[in-house]
Amino acid sequence: MKDFPKNFLWGAAMSAPQTEGQSLAFGKSATTWDHWFQKSPEKFNQSQGPAITSGVYDHYLADCQRMEEIGLNSLRASISWARLLPDGKTINSAAVEFYRDYFSAMSAHGVEPIINLFHFDMPMWLMDQGGWESRDSIEAFAFYAKTCFELFGDLVKKWTTFNEPMVHVECGYLYQYHYPAVIDFQRAVQVGYHTLLAHKAAVKAFRAVSETGEIGIILNISPTYPKSEAKADLLAAYRSDLLNTRSFLDPAVLGSIPEDLKTLLAENDLLPEVNAGDKELIAENLVDFIGLNYYQPRRVQTPQAANRPAQMPADFYAPYDWPDKKINPYRGWEIYPEALYDVALMMKDDYHNIPWFVSENGMGVADEERFMNASGEIEDDYRIAFMEEHLSYLHQGILEGSKCFGYHAWTFIDCWSWLNGYRNRYGFYRLDLETLERSVKKSGKWFKTVSQNNGF
Ligand code: BG6
Repeated sequence: MKDFPKNFLWGAAMSAPQTEGQSLAFGKSATTWDHWFQKSPEKFNQSQGPAITSGVYDHYLADCQRMEEIGLNSLRASISWARLLPDGKTINSAAVEFYRDYFSAMSAHGVEPIINLFHFDMPMWLMDQGGWESRDSIEAFAFYAKTCFELFGDLVKKWTTFNEPMVHVECGYLYQYHYPAVIDFQRAVQVGYHTLLAHKAAVKAFRAVSETGEIGIILNISPTYPKSEAKADLLAAYRSDLLNTRSFLDPAVLGSIPEDLKTLLAENDLLPEVNAGDKELIAENLVDFIGLNYYQPRRVQTPQAANRPAQMPADFYAPYDWPDKKINPYRGWEIYPEALYDVALMMKDDYHNIPWFVSENGMGVADEERFMNASGEIEDDYRIAFMEEHLSYLHQGILEGSKCFGYHAWTFIDCWSWLNGYRNRYGFYRLDLETLERSVKKSGKWFKTVSQNNGF
C-alpha cells in the first residue's frame, strides 16, 4: 500500500474554454479561439469549435455532484476573462452569478476549488490591441485578477495565475497551434516576458487583497534528458531547461530570471524590451506553491546545424527520439513516469522544497468506445495503469521529502481540446457528444477508492 500525506488533494483539472460552452452567450465576448474557429474552422479536428464543448455552463450543479461521486476532494477550473469582463472593464453580473454558484456548489460537495485565471483564452478585444505583445496587457490582467480576488475570494482559497504560460508563447508565436499562429522568436520572447510580468502583477494584487489565501502558477515541467553525456548534448539540455523550465519557474519561486538565460537571449539578439521597475516586480512577488503539469519527458540532443543568431529554439537543442521509449500512440507522447520522481527531487533540491502539486497528468486516447462493456462502461484499464505508475514514482519522491500536496488528473469529464477537438479523450467521465450525457468510466471508480484510501 502506498500511503499519501494527510490531507492530500485528489482531484482533476479542467479549463473554462474547454468545458463551459455558451461561448458567445450570457454576456461573454469572443476569445481568440472563437475568432479563429469562425475564420478557419477547417483547422479544427472535425470542425469541432469552442461554442458548445462539454456544456458545463448548464450542467455544473450535477457535475459538482459527479465530482463527489468519484471521490474528488479538489478540482481546478478556470475563470473566463472574456466572460467576467467582456470589454476588460465592465463586470458581467451573469458571470459573477455563475462562478459564485459553481464554486459554492463544489464546496458543498466537499470539493475544494482551485481557480486559475488564464488557460490560453486571450480575449479578442485585447488580442486586437496586440495581446501579450502589448505592455498594456500587464495592467489589464492585473485588473482582471484583482476583480476575481475581490469577487470570489471568500469562496476560493487557492488561486493560480496562468496555466502553462510557455504554451501560449510557443504555440502562438513559434509553432502555429494557437492564434495568431506566427513564427517569430523575438516576438515570442516579448510575449513570454509580458506574461511573466502579468503573473507578477497579479500576485502583487493578490497580496494587497487576500489575507488568508494562497497563490501559485501552473507550469508544464519536465526535466530535460540529454541524448548522451557528451558535452554538446549536455549543453543542449541545459539550454532547453533555461528556456522551457527555468524561464518561469526561477522568477516565480526564486524571484529572478536566470543570468544564463539573459546571456543566451542577448547573444542571439532576442532580449525583450524591459522597463524600470520590472526587476523589483519580479524579485518581490513570489508564489506560495507551484502547480506542475506533466505528460511527457523532454529529450534533446545537440542540433546538427544551427542558425546564429538563433531563429528558433531548435537552434539551441534538437528533439531526441529515444529508441527505447514507450509511447501513447493516440497522442504521440512518450510515457515516462520516472520523470515525476525526478521532478519531485528537483522541486526539493533546487526550489527550496516549495509546496507543489501535480496539477495535470493523464492519458488521451482516441475511439474509447472500443473499450465499452455490455453495460456501457468504458473499461479504461490503460488509464488506471498510467496513473498508478505515475503515482508510484511521485510517492517515492514524497517519501524522500518532496512537498507534493496533491495529484490532479486531466481531466474530470472528456473535454474539447484546441485544434484536436474531441479526438483524444482524457476524462474520468465519458461525454456523449450528441446528448452531452456523462457516464463514469472504470478509472473514475478506481480513483474513488484511491481517494478514499488516500493511496493504493
Ligand atoms: C495541457 C493543457 O497541456 O494538456 C490542456 O493544459 C490540454 O489544456 C492537455 O487539453 C492535454 O493536451 P491535449 O492537446 O491532448 O488536449
